[in-house]
Amino acid sequence: MEVVKVGLLGLGTVGSGAVEVLTRNDDEISRRAGRNIRITAAADRDISRADFCKEKGIQFTDDAYEVVNNPEIDIIIELIGGYSPAKELVLKAIENGKHIVTANKALIALHGNEIFGAAQEKGVSVAFEASVAGGIPIIKAVREGLSANKIQWVAGIINGTGNFILTEMKDNKSDFADVLKEAQNLGYAEADPTFDIEGIDAAHKLTILASISYGIPLQFDKVFTEGITRITSMDIEYADELGYNIKHLGISKRTEKGIELRVHPTLLPKKQMLANVNGVMNAVMVNGDAVGSTMYYGAGAGSEPTASAVVADIIDVARSLAVDSESKVPSLAFYPKKMSQVPALDIEQVETGYYLRMEALDKSGVMADIARILSDQGVSIEALIQREPPSDNKFASIIMLTKKVSEKQMNDAIKAIESLDTINGKITRIRVEYLDC
Ligand code: HSE
Repeated sequence: MEVVKVGLLGLGTVGSGAVEVLTRNDDEISRRAGRNIRITAAADRDISRADFCKEKGIQFTDDAYEVVNNPEIDIIIELIGGYSPAKELVLKAIENGKHIVTANKALIALHGNEIFGAAQEKGVSVAFEASVAGGIPIIKAVREGLSANKIQWVAGIINGTGNFILTEMKDNKSDFADVLKEAQNLGYAEADPTFDIEGIDAAHKLTILASISYGIPLQFDKVFTEGITRITSMDIEYADELGYNIKHLGISKRTEKGIELRVHPTLLPKKQMLANVNGVMNAVMVNGDAVGSTMYYGAGAGSEPTASAVVADIIDVARSLAVDSESKVPSLAFYPKKMSQVPALDIEQVETGYYLRMEALDKSGVMADIARILSDQGVSIEALIQREPPSDNKFASIIMLTKKVSEKQMNDAIKAIESLDTINGKITRIRVEYLDC
């Protein structure tokens, strides 16, 4: 059987997982691919990983360019992560006529348009299943399984660290900062957790999902991104009382005005399936005009779950080596010449329901003032809770849910309410989604 030779860049958690999976399932994989697949060379800056490679019969180097320039290699797996030198290495590999498999969502979200352009010119494939939701085969599902559909919306829990934090805050009534520390101790959150807790990691993944769902260019800079750092256990409890769970969602919708691209904490009705995805697990819902709502659930990170997606991509690329590039499934699901230029919407154009929490002086007329401002902005109240002030405090908590209204109207209403003398501090605002509920 023909042998496909693979070069691996990065021998960390996912890289070593890919070696293990390919070795353990070699027979099954060869039967599926119709070829033998061998990782013949690997590079990592950490030379202590040379021993692992020796054990597995893989040639080791600490210079990634040695692998990328190796004429024997057919496919490069990029598992270095980050923007640089990953981008330079991938472009060099493409220039050398190699196919690429990557788990690097930041690279695809920010530099994908350039990388796919270069790959198309060279007639090579760039596969990126592991870049979104780890082991869940969501790229393939959207690109191929749902290709008959006009995708209407995509919504997902696509960051396991954030989901773990929100789940623990709810289950143990803990504060954000304490749970973040716990997540770091358990190895879920990085020492610098910014990308996870500020929603940047989820925004990278949403950029990719939106591109393959609607056939639009990758537009990371258009994603409205809000993290989970300001969510309190008090908000989680009030949301619970109102019948909702708070989840950090990536949401993209096709509307008549354009495409919504947003990542933010979201109140979801408890009966919504996504509202019940807990811990580090990921899940993505995709709604197509023909199929309706579909949901994909699984591990969004981890050595072998992510390696599962990486190895599936290697098999796909190996299977299509003899296929001419025009006949292959387009990397971004739509033929490059048929990309749509439908605009991405500004967050002020987006319409959602809102959860609002504010502290107000406990005296007559205050609620009437708030209601008047909301009514002037066309905001309709759906539910209301008022909590009397504790004995050491003169401010009552007012919590409300509103019906759908534009972010612009809500911004104006919040500004006007915050300027009332009777309102203490800032208003907490969390968007509400029903999806198919
Ligand atoms: N840091 C990501 C998460 C995993 O917490 O989901 C890799 O994409």
